[in-house]
Order: sequence, then C-alpha cells, then structure tokens
Amino acid sequence: MPRHIHLIATGGTIAGTGQAGKTSGYEAGSLPVRSLLDTLPPLPEDLQLTAEQLCSIDSNQVDSALWLRLARHINQLAQTDIDGFVITHGTDTMDETAYFLNLTVKTEKPVILTGAMRPSTAASADGPLNLYQAIHLAAKPEAAGKGILVCFCDSIYSGRDVQKVNTYKTDAFNEKDLSCLGYMRDDQCYFLNASLAVHTTASRFDVSGLKELPRVDILYFYAGAPADALDFYASRARGLVIAGTGSGNYSPQWVEKIRQLSRLCIPVIRSSRIGHGIVSRDPHFEGSDNCIPAYTLPPQKARILLSLALTVTDSYAEIEEIFRKY
Ligand code: SIN
Repeated sequence: MPRHIHLIATGGTIAGTGQAGKTSGYEAGSLPVRSLLDTLPPLPEDLQLTAEQLCSIDSNQVDSALWLRLARHINQLAQTDIDGFVITHGTDTMDETAYFLNLTVKTEKPVILTGAMRPSTAASADGPLNLYQAIHLAAKPEAAGKGILVCFCDSIYSGRDVQKVNTYKTDAFNEKDLSCLGYMRDDQCYFLNASLAVHTTASRFDVSGLKELPRVDILYFYAGAPADALDFYASRARGLVIAGTGSGNYSPQWVEKIRQLSRLCIPVIRSSRIGHGIVSRDPHFEGSDNCIPAYTLPPQKARILLSLALTVTDSYAEIEEIFRKY
C-alpha cells in the first residue's frame, strides 16, 4: 500500500512571487498549491500525494478562527486513510500555529509544517527542498507520535519548542537551548531527541465544539514601561502574558498592578523577552497567586497555552499545572 500524504497549503513566502531573482519586495501566498507541486522531483511509487488550498495568505493574517478551522479539519481527515500531513505556512507565525496544533490535533499520524524564507521567484529559492523533505518526513513511521513537527532547512523541530530566530536567513528556525529534534538529508530523517511536553492525543484540549478562544494579550515590559498599560488590557482580555526582562522581571509598579488584577480574577503569565533559559517561580515578582511562570515558553506560545487553559479552568493552581506539563 502506498503511503498517502495530504498537503494543506495556506500561503506564505513558499507560495510568494516577486521580481525574478530578488528575495525582497514580493507578495506572499500568491502561488496556488498546484504550482508548489510542480517544483517537486518525481515522488516514489509508494508515496501518493493529494493536496488542497485551505487559504492563500501571509501568515501575519493567521488568527484563532483559522487555527480552529485547521485543527478541526486535520482531526476529521485523520479519520480517513491519510497516513501523514504537510502544511505549507508562512514562517512569521509558523511557530504559533505549530504549537496550537500540537495542543489540539488528535492524531499520532505525522503532521509537518514547512515554508520558505525566499519566494518561489528568488534565485535559489528554499521552498522546493523544504517541501520535498517535509513530504518525505510525513511518510516516515519514525515521525509518528512525536507531536506536530516543523521541517525546515534540513532540520526537524518540535511544534512545542520551535521558534523563528532569524529575520531573513534560510536557516531561520531552531529550538533555542534545545537545538532540534533531528535532521533531514534528502528524503531520509535522523531523529536525535523528542519533546517531553504533553501533546496531541494526550492533550486535554478539545476544540471540536469551541466557537472562539478566550482573548489573551501580551504586554512587553521595557525600562520605564507605565503600569497603566495593564489596566487597559485587563479591561479587554481574560488573561495576560508579560514579556518581562531577564528571568521574567518588571518594575515594582507592575508587581503592584498584577496584585490588583488578582482581585479581578485575571491570570497573568510571567514570560521573558529573552529567548533562552527558563522563567520559574519567583515570589518577588509574582506577589499574588494569579501570577504564573511561563517556564520555557516564549510569550507568543504562553499566550496560546493560557487561552486554551481558560477553556477548561479558571483555577490558578490548575493553570500552573498546565504550564508545567504542556
Ligand atoms: C509569512 O509569514 O507569510 C511571510 C513571511 C514568510 O513566509 O517567510
């Protein structure tokens, strides 16, 4: 039986077109999925590829409505004879989509995100090789049960820890302190690590009946940042994430304001604007039990986890437990 891989195209630079040869000034998401398929070398006979165009957007247009639609769509298709999935996606928010799917997709089948840093019309575009490797990775039994994966520039990353770390080089992703899960060489995969965080079939989050996600906003702390910014967001959101300095730090005025938000039952996640390291418990900055560390999640992923956590609980202790495990 051939392995059936299904490609879901969403747009991004991999589907971008612009001036011949150039890497800047292009339009993302302008090529249809059939043109992406034309860039592939012939696939082996034991690999059957189907494809669909879910949307054609720059990934800065991705929102929670699209995440819910995508997760439900994969959950439905995973019940069919499809053996693995590839999602082409813009690189700017790929780490967020990968983490959202890691928490909400209910299958052990491989689900691989990929994209490109250079548009299809650039000299030496990186999209064709990334797509070729992602399709082969999706067909590998070794890629099953590892959560959502990102395949990019010869490397394999976990949806939990992957992050975009370069604004324009083709080797634009890594897992910060954790490096990567493994490598791709042509059509072969070499796994070295696995993420220990809870994901996919073991995750408690169920988006099947969810109409929307609770609003959670991110506040960036900087020298002299006014604490009334917290009031502004607290009046609109169910939860807040702070991108603090160092190990999730901010001024005494912010500590006091977070204490006040505790009375309004607003959970506040302390994360860091620094890419490496961990934010752990620190009574000096927490001050009240509504304030919970993000551990190793960056602000944009802590926002996703808090939003999903608020769909199952309002308990600060339970939210902290979720942040420890996911
Ligand atoms: C996007 O994220 O859609 C544009 C940038 C990219 O794909 O690299």
